[in-house]
Order: sequence, then C-alpha cells, then structure tokens
Amino acid sequence: MFDYKKMFDLTGRTALVVGAGSGIGQASAIALGAFGANVICADLNLDACHDTLKYIADQGGHGAALAIDMRASVSIAEALDPIPQIDILVSTPSINVRKPMLRITDEEFDKVMALNMKGTFMLMRYVAAGMATRKRGSIIVFSSIRGDVVEPGQGIYAATKSGVRQMVKALASELGGSGVRANCIAPGVVETPLTAQIQNQPEWYNAYAAKGALGRWAQPEEMTGAVVYLASDASSYVTGTVVYVDGGWMAQDGRFTPPL
Ligand SMILES: NC(=O)c1ccc[n+]([C@@H]2O[C@H](COP(=O)([O-])OP(=O)(O)OC[C@H]3O[C@@H](n4cnc5c(N)ncnc54)[C@H](O)[C@@H]3O)[C@@H](O)[C@H]2O)c1
Repeated sequence: MFDYKKMFDLTGRTALVVGAGSGIGQASAIALGAFGANVICADLNLDACHDTLKYIADQGGHGAALAIDMRASVSIAEALDPIPQIDILVSTPSINVRKPMLRITDEEFDKVMALNMKGTFMLMRYVAAGMATRKRGSIIVFSSIRGDVVEPGQGIYAATKSGVRQMVKALASELGGSGVRANCIAPGVVETPLTAQIQNQPEWYNAYAAKGALGRWAQPEEMTGAVVYLASDASSYVTGTVVYVDGGWMAQDGRFTPPL
C-alpha cells in the first residue's frame, strides 16, 4: 500500500543547495535537512555555508559545506567531482542590476547573464548528467514573478528569470525518460539580502506588499514548502513546470480595490 506519510521523507537522499549561504537558499538547505536529506551547502561564501550547517544541525539534520563559483565550469567540476551522488539540486544564485534598458552597459548585461543564465546552465548540465546515469533526481531552479511581469529597471534580470524556465523545461523534456525531474519556483517578494535596496525604502516596500493578495512580503522560510515538495516523492509526477509562491502577486491586478 502507498505510504502517504513517507511522501515528503528525504532520508537517504543527498541534496546539493547552491546559494545555501543566504536568503532562500539557506532556508531551503535547512528545510531539506529537517526532512532527512544529507545537505551539501555550496556557495561563493564558504563561511556562510558553515553557518547554514549549524542551523541544519540545530534542526537535527546533517551535511557538508562547499565553496563553489557557479560562473566557472572548472569550479563546478572541482567542487562536485568528489560527491558520489546528488539526488536533489536546488539552485538560487542570481543578481539584478536595476537600471533602465537604455543605460545598461555591455559589461552589466554580461555580468547578469554570466551568473543567472550561464551559471545556472552549467550547474544543471553537470548535476543532471549524473542524475540521468543513476536514473533518479530532482532539479529545482529559482525563477521569479519577473519571468512573467516586469517593471522599469528589471529588463535583463527578467529575461534571465524567463530564460531559466525554458532551460528547465527543455531539461525536463529531455530527461523525463531517465527519471530526472526539473522544475522552477517563482517567488514574489521575499525579505532577503537581494531585496535590501527595496526594503530600505518604505514607499517601495509597502507598494510591493500591497500588490499581492496576501498584502505582505514573504520570509525565506515560506519558500521551502515548495522546495521540499519538488525535492520529494510527493511531486513524483511533477516536471517541467513553475510553482508560484508569490502571495497572490500574479493572481490580482492590485492597482486599485473597487468600492463594492
Ligand atoms: N528575494 C526575493 O524577493 C526574490 C524574488 C523572486 C525571485 N527570487 C530568486 O530567488 C533566488 C534566491 O534569491 P535570494 O533572495 O535568496 O538571494 P541572496 O542574494 O540572498 O542569496 C544568493 C546567494 O548566492 C550566492 N552566490 C552569488 N554568486 C554566486 C556564485 N557565482 N556561485 C555560487 N554562489 C553564489 C551568494 O553568496 C548568496 O549566498 C534568486 O534566483 C532570485 O532571483 C528572489
């Protein structure tokens, strides 16, 4: 008989979380550890990974810390070659240069692409190859509501958040027969270092809070239900899709509440 209570159990699985040093990646690593996974915490910032490991241990979990630079395939291979098996990949690192399209320089364009698009691609390519060989794996990449809707100053970031969805769909399509699933999560607005510039400006912060149906920002922990779901057998028939964790941002217009 199907064991419903084991659907979210990650015991015996190894999860690689790249971006585990901050924000959503850190919360994801802690959550995966709490559900039993052995969590490899990887980030440019190795010290921050060690902090995350302590939080994982506080929740009864276990894992390891690893320095990695997602922008270099050599760094990816050096960091990950010694790991015999990765069952779950969570990829969060991304940057945003908030500038109008007409003022974005070639260098700024390349910088955002190098991490958000090419880095995500190279990381997925490496990890998915091993998963396909072992005929098991779940890949989770962080997109954004900006993959659907933009505002001034989000052009290149938004393009990458849309672009990673298409890469993830292609991977899902190519590796479905090999038992590998690949999905994106699209957050709304989450209080992390990435959004510090907005959080520091009350008008901007409050406008974003009011846009979604829930009328507030999210905490990083609120992203992790979707991460554990997509990582686990609870989502065994889910691939090539986008899970929105956006507090209703995409559902409502949000400009005005009519007097009813
Ligand atoms: N915070 C939000 O409101 C929000 C909204 C929508 C989507 N997202 C998406 O969620 C994801 C996570 O965002 P966050 O807010 O947790 O970001 P964050 O800035 O808090 O964390 C990013 C982490 O990635 C690491 N990193 C940066 N460059 C790296 C590299 N080259 N190699 C390895 N690690 C590197 C950083 O050291 C940091 O620990 C991003 O993809 C972002 O686009 C966030």
